[in-house]
Amino acid sequence: MSAQIPPHIPSERVVEFDRFNAPQLQRCPHQQVSQLFQQSPDIFYTTGDRGHWVVGRATVARDMLRQPDKFSSDPLHNPANARTPPTLPNQCDPPFHTGLRRIINPFFSPAGVQRMEQDVRALAVRLIEQALPRGRCEFVSEVAQIFPVELFMRMANAPLDRRERLITLVDRFTRAPAVQERLAALKELGDDLQTLIAEREATPGDDLISLVVHAQVDGRPLTDDEKRGMVTLLFLGGLDTVSAMLSFIMAYLGQHPAQWKRLVEDPPLIGNAIEELMRVHGVAGTERGVTQDMVYEGVEFKAGDRLVFPAHIYGLDAQLVDDPLRVDFERPVSAHLVFGSGPHRCVGSHLARLEIRVFLEEWARRVPHFAVDAQGDLPTRGGLVWSPVAVPLLWPAVQAQDAQGQP
Ligand code: HEM
Repeated sequence: MSAQIPPHIPSERVVEFDRFNAPQLQRCPHQQVSQLFQQSPDIFYTTGDRGHWVVGRATVARDMLRQPDKFSSDPLHNPANARTPPTLPNQCDPPFHTGLRRIINPFFSPAGVQRMEQDVRALAVRLIEQALPRGRCEFVSEVAQIFPVELFMRMANAPLDRRERLITLVDRFTRAPAVQERLAALKELGDDLQTLIAEREATPGDDLISLVVHAQVDGRPLTDDEKRGMVTLLFLGGLDTVSAMLSFIMAYLGQHPAQWKRLVEDPPLIGNAIEELMRVHGVAGTERGVTQDMVYEGVEFKAGDRLVFPAHIYGLDAQLVDDPLRVDFERPVSAHLVFGSGPHRCVGSHLARLEIRVFLEEWARRVPHFAVDAQGDLPTRGGLVWSPVAVPLLWPAVQAQDAQGQP
């Protein structure tokens, strides 16, 4: 349902863009949405998804995200994004936010995630080798969605039997166009995770959930709602995002065999290549609430205005990157904003990089040639996290070769 346009918003700043259902999100969303934004004011208002501002320019967004006093993550200033309990640390501001990040930062630091590399590699190898003899797979559902969820279950030392249900709940939360449906999925997810929280309260281990539920902030233990908000977001943050990003990247590489060949022949290039591949395939954004009436970048804002930052396309902003549509694995690593900016910058960025790098290394070792088994551009889905709907992949099946390695 479309919202009314508030009286302080001039008509020249209104552009139609529904982040759940816009036609631009159905195929090649990165190119199509960034094209729409280039033709629009840097900051525009849309009536889609209950009405909100959209910050379409990467450089403007970067500056705004670094000013939490003006553009707050607290739902107090953005009631349309309220959740019960709030997901943390992304629904609060410094200084409380700083205390919460201190709890989890070490676990997700470069050294912290380095300790997970062996597990990540073992899981990637298992998933790839399961698919390998078939010579084909639907990559999103058969590999990409399973990879981060299983890894998270290991990090949380949680049983794997609820894997499919958790994947469905995350999908409903990130893509259901109706906000009530998204909030219902979030509640169900929180209820499921509550069991794990209770277990770890009683019997702590050395896993991520134990770390959170026994942590202190401002010299006191976390409340029950804070524990639930933190565990829920940690679970949500790293699943659909990694799965969607990996799916976009595999679809791209399957459609660009010469670039895949370069990575197969020169695996150390994968580290730089994933930075470039992530830059053009952003999958997540964020939102903020305006804390006070003000004029910023020539726009009149009122306290309580809602701001959406589609970081999905900031890597394609020519003000940030030269010739942004050119995918160049040798390009110096750019500041792409795919993981956000400012105090809320993604805590899981090193883990996401590790998962994607290790997966491509193991795929390169085993699948020197593969292709997308579809004509034309693949269908995609919008929402909080963008993703391909399906990525059918095809490669010469290992079992189809005879003893001499002849197909
Ligand atoms: C390619 C994968 C990923 C992308 C594109 C991504 C993107 C983002 C973005 C844009 C933000 C900023 C939100 C804001 O400013 O409000 C964010 C925050 C966050 N991400 Fe990620 N993320 C990814 C992977 C992960 C992983 C693997 C985890 C692991 C748990 C994770 C956990 C979080 C958390 C907890 C926050 C909130 C940080 C805060 O508010 O301080 N993310 N992510």
